[in-house]
Amino acid sequence: MPSKTSPIGVFDSGVGGVSVLRAMRALMPEEPVIYFGDQGHVPYGPRSMEQIQNFSEGITKFLLDHDSKLIVVACNTASAAALTFLRQRFSFVSFVGMEPAVKPAAETTITGRVGVLATPATFQGALYASVVERFAAGVELFQHTCPGLVTQIEKGELDSVTTRAILEDALHPMLEKNIDTVVLGCTHYPFVIPLIEQIVGKNVRVIDPAPAVAKQAKRLLETAGIKNQTWGRAHIRFFTSGTPPEMKSLLPVLLGETGEVESVAWKNDCEIE
Ligand code: DGL
Repeated sequence: MPSKTSPIGVFDSGVGGVSVLRAMRALMPEEPVIYFGDQGHVPYGPRSMEQIQNFSEGITKFLLDHDSKLIVVACNTASAAALTFLRQRFSFVSFVGMEPAVKPAAETTITGRVGVLATPATFQGALYASVVERFAAGVELFQHTCPGLVTQIEKGELDSVTTRAILEDALHPMLEKNIDTVVLGCTHYPFVIPLIEQIVGKNVRVIDPAPAVAKQAKRLLETAGIKNQTWGRAHIRFFTSGTPPEMKSLLPVLLGETGEVESVAWKNDCEIE
């Protein structure tokens, strides 16, 4: 049975979820965390919903085997493909998921035109359709999947010529349509906010949902009475299905902290060894 001192399980296809982890660290540094990056399978975006659901199930089992008291699906794509399923399958634990932040964008846009950057699977999922239906009435949305951007960020190319070109391809047509807000619907994308801001200029608001997700995680822990009461900065355990040195080398840049990264292997699509 997980207790107050048990870790929060956080996962993503790769290092994208570190943008959520960073917000969680800022808000509740005393919470121990297990972070799983499925870098053996990244990117998730072009994969089938079924496959992403299988991976998400396997990772959730792994995080629960490591005593997680709460699961943060720090990945819009996995949330789109698997959140409903995970909540049914593992009904004894709470999940925090992600959805593109169309609601705050729709509430604050003045031009009524909003750009959304996310992966193909996120745009195809029922979750996005429902967010648009519930919150985007009267707002025009311009979507782009930014092909190749997740891979660039996984390589640590946060400011290269190629990364800039991908973002310009996505954003220039939106700027021509007079957007005043950009929603980051993929947890990898906050790492290129400086580049996005250079391209869109200071009159366009860029929305990173990570702080709101961290707050929601904290609220759930408090409500369930499982918030850690210990003072200090807790330990983070990192796991990857890819190459540990690659993830390790990115942590200081992406998280502002160092950490050891442990290696894990998949047995099949929904089981980790
Ligand atoms: N970081 C992810 C997301 O929020 C997944 C990106 C990918 O693997 O394609 O959607």
